[in-house]
Amino acid sequence: MTPNELRQSYLDFFSQKEHTVIPSASLVPENDPTVLFITAGMQPLVPFLLGEAHPSGHRLVDVQKCIRTGDVDEVGDNTHLTFFEMLGNWSLQDYFKNDSITWSFEFLTKVLNLPLEKLAFTVFVGEVGIPRDEESAKLWMSLGVPENRVAYLGREDNWWGPAGQTGPCGPDTEIFYWTGSKAAPEVYDPSDKRWVEIWNNVFMQYNKIEAGKYELLPKPNVDTGMGLERTIVAINGLESVYEIDYFQNLIKEIERLSGKSYQESEETVRAMRIIADHTRAATVIINDGIMPSNKDRGYILRRLIRRAVRYGRGLGIKDGFLSELAKIVVNDLGEVYSDLVKNQPCIFEALTAEENKFSKTLEKGLKEFEKMFSQDQKIDGAEAFILYSTYGFPLELTEEMARDKGQAIDRKAFEIEFKKHQDLSRAGAEQKFAGGLADSSEATTKLHTATHLLQAALRQVLGPHIFQRGSNITAERLRFDFSHPEKVTAEQLRQVEDIVNNAIEKKLPVCFEMLDLAEAKARGAIGVFEDKYEKLGGQLKVYTIGGQAGEDPHSREVCGGPHVENIGNLGRFKIIKEEAVSAGVRRIKAVLEPS
Ligand code: ALA
Repeated sequence: MTPNELRQSYLDFFSQKEHTVIPSASLVPENDPTVLFITAGMQPLVPFLLGEAHPSGHRLVDVQKCIRTGDVDEVGDNTHLTFFEMLGNWSLQDYFKNDSITWSFEFLTKVLNLPLEKLAFTVFVGEVGIPRDEESAKLWMSLGVPENRVAYLGREDNWWGPAGQTGPCGPDTEIFYWTGSKAAPEVYDPSDKRWVEIWNNVFMQYNKIEAGKYELLPKPNVDTGMGLERTIVAINGLESVYEIDYFQNLIKEIERLSGKSYQESEETVRAMRIIADHTRAATVIINDGIMPSNKDRGYILRRLIRRAVRYGRGLGIKDGFLSELAKIVVNDLGEVYSDLVKNQPCIFEALTAEENKFSKTLEKGLKEFEKMFSQDQKIDGAEAFILYSTYGFPLELTEEMARDKGQAIDRKAFEIEFKKHQDLSRAGAEQKFAGGLADSSEATTKLHTATHLLQAALRQVLGPHIFQRGSNITAERLRFDFSHPEKVTAEQLRQVEDIVNNAIEKKLPVCFEMLDLAEAKARGAIGVFEDKYEKLGGQLKVYTIGGQAGEDPHSREVCGGPHVENIGNLGRFKIIKEEAVSAGVRRIKAVLEPS
């Protein structure tokens, strides 16, 4: 069975049980500041698990994209992935244990035809105030499960949630599948890793409101989660998730690029698995609007990319390789998540930019690491900070390299260095501000406004396929990246300059209005990240340049600002450079000269 077949049969099965199919939410949580990424299918549904009415009713089913970074050291073993897809069905204050367990059993044994001999089940053993879940155990046994394949376990195993620090949670029953090569033992042994968890049915009866404090939900829910990749492993009798085509396609390409074979050694297996996993995760994270940075989600993304690059260089891959691998990811997942196809130029560009940035310092950083280590057989906090600030090594990467040599890094000492550095650069920024940043901010405001004029002019000269792919503005110049398949000719550049300068000469006013997305689109506004605006909902700030007295506006764009009020005093617009950034993306640098 292929992943897409499993996806479909799951959705079909629960549709037949009157569940409504809902789409996967973004990987970026919208209403839960306590978590960085969606880690489970229930997360986007929290308000409804707490009792709010869901527009699609009381029974839902979906396949949700998830990111889990807590297990990052286990990535590369047979079962852990950073990005995975979770099949989930929900009862929102509707059915409870009986239907949930009966349908899970039916799906596993009748639809997927998994042999009962290879299945085992765990249920909650109970604790003060919360009863032992004999009801679930009895239900499994009533369906034919032998008693010695049902285990009662404690909170660490059979209690789920909340996903963040607060929210719905409860006891669960988990379903395990035997992946050993010999027949499954008669008695289920929770410590035997060949029993792999494939499905978890949570009986959500509680809401955790603060540490140690739970209240009973007015009506209970069922929240289930089945790992798509793990279940494929079970159905197809594979040994590891990396045997699935999704990963094999990537691993083959890594073999080709590195000239090494996957099975060459334990190291090559692990390195290729990590590269495949991290590239896949980075691709879908960028697709949901995150860019590498030093904070929060952006930092997790940066860590994934840089770790993949380090392992790639370790395998001997010299050139940039991430966007090649990302193409395979888009190819494999684009059918299900069509925005991946739409966003691919952006994704490839972001991966390549981050890879190039890190490649410049990686080799020197590795040498520096060895030197630091050889001095006293350890990396101290200050050294880890140098590797971070000068060579771009995320702390976790340095930690991993030190761990390979048997050393743990003092995180506190690193953080003290980090803080010292932050205080210094803050002081620096304040001084700069006192010394005339007000001027530069006027210059950047002008250049930012000119970027709108430039984009509009490019669309006039080259066509409506022009979209912003990046922008960077200093006090001296603007830099604008945009989608276009070929070099812009000198003649076209001249036309663009003329259009911008004509607009400036007309002294067109700049104004903004707050519009909702539909209205903004109807009025022809262009936007950088439409998906993000859609997700945010509500009102958008739309800037219009010109368009008085019934004339067509020169430019209309969704944007946060800042802008001048009238473009008459921008000066003369001049393009100083046009060049390629990556396949399908061009870059223009331009200045404003006094007129
Ligand atoms: N929310 C449950 C899980 O993630 C189903 O395992």
